[in-house]
Amino acid sequence: MKTYLVTGGAGFIGSNFIHYMFEKYDNDIRIINVDALTYAGNLENLKGVDTRDNYTFVKADITDKDAIEKIFAENDIDYVVHFAAESHVDRSIKNPEVFVSTNVYGTAVMLNSAMKAWSLEDGTFREGKKFLHVSTDEVYGSLSEPGTYFYETTPYSPHSPYSASKASSDMLVKAYMDTYKFPANITNCSNNYGPYQFPEKLIPLVINNALNGKKLPVYGDGKNVRDWLYVRDHAKAIDMVINKGRLFETYNVGGHNEKQNIEIVTIIIDTLLEMLDDNDPRKANISRDLITYVEDRKGHDRRYAIAPDKIKSEIGWEPETMFAEGIKLTIKWYFEHEDWMKNVTSGDYQKYYEDMYAGK
Ligand code: NAD
Ligand code: TYD
Repeated sequence: MKTYLVTGGAGFIGSNFIHYMFEKYDNDIRIINVDALTYAGNLENLKGVDTRDNYTFVKADITDKDAIEKIFAENDIDYVVHFAAESHVDRSIKNPEVFVSTNVYGTAVMLNSAMKAWSLEDGTFREGKKFLHVSTDEVYGSLSEPGTYFYETTPYSPHSPYSASKASSDMLVKAYMDTYKFPANITNCSNNYGPYQFPEKLIPLVINNALNGKKLPVYGDGKNVRDWLYVRDHAKAIDMVINKGRLFETYNVGGHNEKQNIEIVTIIIDTLLEMLDDNDPRKANISRDLITYVEDRKGHDRRYAIAPDKIKSEIGWEPETMFAEGIKLTIKWYFEHEDWMKNVTSGDYQKYYEDMYAGK
């Protein structure tokens, strides 16, 4: 039985990954979820798996070396799946330091702890171990021309403090692979959407605001392009890279689904109108009139688009969920989880939201 150490498993993608893995492998795997439970970590995301005997939650910060080394000392970890990070670009513009601390130093702690636990006396590593570093396409910078894509060979050119911190963490992983032959893979994925996404990110923010008849803030001219991938497809890609990825390789993961932000916002409005019952009082408040153009994000990357050719040809992974289907699944999930949304939009997040959009 393989033991997975998942960091950041109480966040959006981490929790979707844990659900996916238990649905697929049931009692044939063990998962230890390490999460500091920042504003973005929510144990409600793990309802249903938290009672399993083969699941353990440890509240710890990845920058806490002693706490992380203790987990490795007490458990024979086979795979590390490293999601834990500060993940929101706008927050990184307001407060970059915590991004450096968690994303760069925290990754160094994870790498060192795994290296210590997996090292053999001759300087090699125990068979079958792997560190999967989950990263983003934002490390590659910004594309302008339609028809151009990010490949694994595209030079790094991060612009936001978030993407710079993720690029730094990727570089550390690359350095460990090159220097120590440390067994790892890096995945660089495009924008995810789906259940359990915190409503500071575009798609859940627009769903939540529209349902509450609130303005839908669109940055700049609304024509920035992102390549959206349904989160479950990302979870599947990570599982496949752990099992089939060649050590020391990087794999780009993307949705083949480029859309301008304004298109995303109008698709959500139209889909909400289609899915809500005519007698639902929320329906009357939803229209394109809610769209509000606001000041652009500083250093706003124009376009991201992944070429997932390598992961397709080497591993056989492809995006499976078309956007039209994925957005309906996502909206349906938010309809069915009103309490989840109420809980996460109270407290800290509410304060952040008021600061972020003050005067906009
Ligand atoms: P998220 O913000 O929803 O979740 C991050 C999780 O990490 C939270 O549970 C949080 O509590 C935890 N965490 C934060 N700091 C920590 C610390 N110091 N110690 C321990 N735990 C800590 O993020 P997400 O959207 O699920 O992203 C997960 C990973 O995937 C990140 O590494 C991100 O860079 C990467 N990624 C995200 C996207 C996307 O579209 N969301 C796309 C590509 C890659
Ligand atoms: P986001 O979901 O924050 O992801 P990322 O910045 O990592 O790509 O934003 C997606 C796009 O939507 C990005 O171009 C910024 C834009 N955006 C808005 O126009 N309005 C908003 O309120 C938010 C949160 C994002």
